[in-house]
Amino acid sequence: MTSPSHVAIIMDGNGRWAKARGLPRLAGHRAGVEALRRTVRAAGDLGIEWLTVYAFSSENWSRPEPEVSGLMGLLKLFIRRDLADLHAQGVRIRVIGDREGVPSDIRHLLEEAEALTANNRLLKLVIAFNYGGRDEIIRAVKKVAQASAQGLMTADTLTHERFAAFMDTAEIPDPDLVIRTSGEMRLSNFLLWQAAYSEFAFLPCYWPDFSERDLREAIEIYGRRERRFGGLVAQDAAAS
Ligand code: IPE
Ligand code: IPE
Ligand code: MG
Repeated sequence: MTSPSHVAIIMDGNGRWAKARGLPRLAGHRAGVEALRRTVRAAGDLGIEWLTVYAFSSENWSRPEPEVSGLMGLLKLFIRRDLADLHAQGVRIRVIGDREGVPSDIRHLLEEAEALTANNRLLKLVIAFNYGGRDEIIRAVKKVAQASAQGLMTADTLTHERFAAFMDTAEIPDPDLVIRTSGEMRLSNFLLWQAAYSEFAFLPCYWPDFSERDLREAIEIYGRRERRFGGLVAQDAAAS
């Protein structure tokens, strides 16, 4: 059975998890951070190379202000509390999303996390923060236009590979498997370009309940899929 080397997760359902317990939404987000900690460990143990997590979307700013500031506070706490531990585990952190729109104290923390862990090799953890797929594509197109205006490239030399190098995910392989918890079956603006040929696993559990067992289950689902990339699998190609 083939294992995915890059797993991306839409960590959804914190609010509903809290509501089901009569708790405030922020309690759900707090429990979601615990689930993230567990998942990073499990991914390292399972030999996953890349783990991308959708932490805050470019549309999540539209939530009520107390929830937004609660989420910002949790991210800060996560980096401050967990950075040393993640570093000791050999986790390399990389952040994707629009940094310009991120409060400067958070931006500095994210940059510190990337710098400290830059040489780690066990697991690459990509945090999608203030991330939106459409926003990322537009920012990439702007960079292409600037490069073109400076005479560094021309329209006819643009290829998929060259375009991808302008994305936040430059040098990150496309996700093999995208998992979304909470039963919703949509992308919500996550990795629009990169997930073109990803496999999807939609799990019913809310994110705070996500466990190593769920991760293994998603990997098993992935192992039963047949990826074709628009072509034919070897057996069928030979028979035709
Ligand atoms: C995911 O949980 C966390 C973020 C989007 C930051 P939600 O907060 O979306 O939880 P639900 O979907 O309302 O249950
Ligand atoms: C996607 O979840 C964003 C994150 C998990 C960070 P949302 O809860 O924001 O997505 P919608 O609004 O249900 O599509
Ligand atoms: Mg949600």
